[in-house]
Amino acid sequence: PAVDNSPAIVIGSGYGAAVAALRLGQAGIRTLVIEMGGLWNTPGKDGKVFCSTRTPDERSMWFRTRTEAPLATFLWLDVVNKDISLYPGVLDRVRFANMSVFVGRGVGGGSLVNGSMAVTPLQSYFAEQFPTVDTAEMYSTYFPRARSVLGVNTIDPAWFESTEWYRFTRISRKHAQNAGLKTTFVPSVYDFGHMQREAAGTATKSALAGEVIYGNNHGKRSLDKTYLASALGTGNVTIHTMERAKGIRRVSDGTYVVTVDRIDGTGKVVETKEYGCTYLFLGGGSLGTTELLVRARETGTLPALNASVGTGWGTNGNVMFGRANHLWDTVGENQSTMPVMGIDDWGNTSNPVFAEIAPLPTGLEHWVSLYLAITKNPQRASFTYDSATDSAKLGWSAAQSAVSVSMAKKLFDRINSANSTIYRYDLFGSSNKVFADDFTYHPLGGCVLGKATDDYGRVKGYSKLYVTDGSLVPGSIGVNPFLTITALAERTMARVLVEDTAP
Ligand code: FDA
Repeated sequence: PAVDNSPAIVIGSGYGAAVAALRLGQAGIRTLVIEMGGLWNTPGKDGKVFCSTRTPDERSMWFRTRTEAPLATFLWLDVVNKDISLYPGVLDRVRFANMSVFVGRGVGGGSLVNGSMAVTPLQSYFAEQFPTVDTAEMYSTYFPRARSVLGVNTIDPAWFESTEWYRFTRISRKHAQNAGLKTTFVPSVYDFGHMQREAAGTATKSALAGEVIYGNNHGKRSLDKTYLASALGTGNVTIHTMERAKGIRRVSDGTYVVTVDRIDGTGKVVETKEYGCTYLFLGGGSLGTTELLVRARETGTLPALNASVGTGWGTNGNVMFGRANHLWDTVGENQSTMPVMGIDDWGNTSNPVFAEIAPLPTGLEHWVSLYLAITKNPQRASFTYDSATDSAKLGWSAAQSAVSVSMAKKLFDRINSANSTIYRYDLFGSSNKVFADDFTYHPLGGCVLGKATDDYGRVKGYSKLYVTDGSLVPGSIGVNPFLTITALAERTMARVLVEDTAP
């Protein structure tokens, strides 16, 4: 018998998990949230909860001895990464053969480390990716619901045009316009009122102090301040931190038992526990959830999981790169870490790309325009279970990344030619690498909606077992994904609470 029983368990505390926790709590269902990372609410010796990208310490990365920032070098010098001590830091880089995946660790998951961009996908592309979902209902009900609870806001255009903090964005916009391309503002969950006070010197700087991938101390509406705070407020939700779910099995009465390793601050397993529940929601993200289910199928603890579990994974076509500007096109020493604009060429059916204008907040003028492009890369990969390491391995090839690069390059060759500029060669290591195509911020898929699950995230082969996170999205959504993940989770919870939990 399981040690500890709750009506519902939610694994993880990112977007999909946080929606599940709030809606379960509001329905009066006692719920245990299990998160492998820590709770980020205690200041360190410097008085801050999170460290900044400029002076990373052990709080930056999940059990590493050196930071592994996406942008590794600058003028070929290894000035970006720093030695640190082992600690359950907030950003993890999960390395597979040809692809590494950045994810957040802690209560709030990716919301603790991401760029806050809350973008609604093009409706026609959403419909293409989710042919069985009622698109009209998504856009009239669930996207607005997600935007409202997440606290999405937009930058004041007048302030954007005048502030030094977005000069880097205006330069990139000008260069895109010179190539006949259109740009669009992207909404955000960073509080722009706070940001304007940072600029005015009346609030502590966070986005304007280089804080982002290792956490923001102020201004960001991460999930611990929105969905999860409200979930705890229902009185029905408990969060356990530093507990990593490993095994899932179903017992004869149809309930689930989750095996969990509790780790300490050095990563050592100090206890293995079992929790029982009637309803089990998986919100460990594309990597976390897919690994749990692939392991459960292959080790025979959930043998009825179908062959789609572990398939349909993609990078959202992510590729990062920089352009070198002319000396007169300064990008400014002051750069906000929160991107607010994208170059939108998704409508170009022969080469769809949505490229965010990304900051490079070094505090120095560097003449670099940095981008994170999202390309319509159709390549997908699968996970297989490796019994030697008891983990899921991703079968992504370098050739699959090359597809993203060629799409980004086609668009940015146009921008370079219109502005007589070139790419930067010094940002991603020593080998004159222009395109960083070996990492993604947007892992998507693995348990795709309608394939590994029914059309509402109910896992096929089992009842009362649900997926609510990015693993449902079939490898691509064309924009930054968290708003879509949140809205889909709202849709799942609305359905499940009506149909599956009636006494
Ligand atoms: P998410 O990854 O958020 O949460 C999963 C949680 O489960 C984590 O806290 C993890 O520790 C935990 N977990 C996993 N396995 C577990 C286990 N076995 N046991 C216990 N806990 C477990 N998106 C966007 O829309 N706009 C943006 O601006 C950005 N920017 C960005 C920047 C950076 C640096 C990154 C890394 C990512 C982004 N993203 C983004 C992506 C976005 O953050 C991402 O798509 C979502 O966080 C995914 O939400 P999920 O709910 O799928 O899982």
